[in-house]
Amino acid sequence: MITVSRIKDLRAAIQQQKQARKRVAFVPTMGNLHAGHISLVKRAHEMADYVVTSIFVNPLQFGAHEDLDKYPRTLDADKAQLVNAGNHALYTPTATQIYPKGLEQHTKVIVPGITESHCGASRPGHFTGVSTVVNILFNLVQPDIALFGEKDYQQVAVIRKMVKDLGMPIQIETVATMREPSGLAMSSRNGYLSAAEKQTAAKIYKLLKDMASRIEKGARDYDSLILAGKATLADVGFEVDYLSIAQSDTLAPAKPEDSEITLLVAAKLGSTRLIDNISISLSTS
Ligand code: PAF
Repeated sequence: MITVSRIKDLRAAIQQQKQARKRVAFVPTMGNLHAGHISLVKRAHEMADYVVTSIFVNPLQFGAHEDLDKYPRTLDADKAQLVNAGNHALYTPTATQIYPKGLEQHTKVIVPGITESHCGASRPGHFTGVSTVVNILFNLVQPDIALFGEKDYQQVAVIRKMVKDLGMPIQIETVATMREPSGLAMSSRNGYLSAAEKQTAAKIYKLLKDMASRIEKGARDYDSLILAGKATLADVGFEVDYLSIAQSDTLAPAKPEDSEITLLVAAKLGSTRLIDNISISLSTS
């Protein structure tokens, strides 16, 4: 595996692959890699000839009081995992390389219609930070395919819309959320949790599964389900940011007649913000 941090070295490596007509797959990450990231790299390996992963803790997607400074940085361990997974190139730019004139002065990519609700409502500017950096990275790497985890459901929806709206010739692929044996969705932020908090955190997925099963069995009073679900999480110590039953494509509140539904949740345990989701298809016959 090669590791590059200069744009010209990245471009040279990619150009070589393009000239040899190789398909390039790209896995953008913020590092502190876990089995979820590695499943993306392995899938990328199956789908393309050359796999590029980036590690960049993107300052533009963190709010003023969020965890940018304490976000875990574990480059050596990340590299070892990437080598094992067969990654070909690791791109590790600095903030100055990505935003040479600073965050304020940098051109932004705004994706309206899908970024105002859910995480976008409680983390203003977050998705502009994500779409802007992903746009820059896509332009630098020029991948044929880019892979994202389903855990960040809204992020994937934002990126799909950006790619479609801006006519970017990139196939967006998703990989199912990897979970701990307890059901807890794997996340770099799980490292902030104590052992006891980890046990409590697993209740998020249990609740989502329970709600999904009720809906599959015919429950359609979504407001009551959400109210009860929020109370269940609050009872075990969560501060719930949102719990919603949404249309899978628009993320607007689901109506009883909708068939493609996604349950999404964001909740804080202590100072750690966790997100998760489950999608279900209801038969309309
Ligand atoms: O999901 C992440 O790790 C980040 O939001 C991403 C896509 C790498 C952009 O910084």
